[in-house]
Amino acid sequence: MALMASCNVKQQEEQQITATPIVAAETIQLQTPSKQGGASINEALWNRKSYRDYANEPLTLEELSGVMWAAAGVNRADGHLTAPSALALYPIQTYAFLESGVYLYDAKTNTLNRKVEGDYRSLATLQDFANTASLNIVYIADLSVYDGRNMDANKVAVLCGMDAAGYAENVNLYTAANGLKSITRGGAKAEQILELLQLDPARYAFTLAQTVGK
Ligand SMILES: Cc1cc2nc3c(=O)[nH]c(=O)nc-3n(C[C@H](O)[C@H](O)[C@H](O)COP(=O)(O)O)c2cc1C
Repeated sequence: MALMASCNVKQQEEQQITATPIVAAETIQLQTPSKQGGASINEALWNRKSYRDYANEPLTLEELSGVMWAAAGVNRADGHLTAPSALALYPIQTYAFLESGVYLYDAKTNTLNRKVEGDYRSLATLQDFANTASLNIVYIADLSVYDGRNMDANKVAVLCGMDAAGYAENVNLYTAANGLKSITRGGAKAEQILELLQLDPARYAFTLAQTVGK
């Protein structure tokens, strides 16, 4: 009986651990995703589709952690990421637009670091359904990583777009495997985002957006 009771407590604790609320702070320490969990890659591919209806309901810390890691997390000792990058230059910066602010993802420390406080989710879209979704991700390219490579600007833009598409598709597969919804989006208020984040348009370019939620 005592053993059963302690098992129940353990189960409850585990359940609680798997639904940790996100505490809005200057730095959100994300959790290390497990190697288990989620549907198989085959199931994820069968399930993947674009969603355009979202509840105004926050993700749990576990969900946010899984999504950000899927997008751009470190998955090897050499520091490379879950997504590939042309020439391993990693121009893409991954911003999370949450109700509590706009955060930049730091893959090395697996943290989200707030750049601006406040709800700016509507800047990350041109479509109403994303205004109040749990999370909008914005992929911004730092074009300066291509400096000195004598590469045509159009080619740089294409490569940055391809990098971002890889990040976004990782997220689409993660959400499809973990009971969440998502959509890759090309539309956002790009100029306003750069202005808000005080990013010089000569160096930084909006590349892609994405909505994730329930
Ligand atoms: C690069 C890219 C940009 C997209 N931009 C938008 C967008 O701005 N708004 C939107 O509703 N869907 C957007 N989509 C989603 C497509 O409309 C969607 O993938 C397509 O209709 C096929 O549907 P499915 O994803 O459910 O298979 C985009 C998809 C990609 C790959």
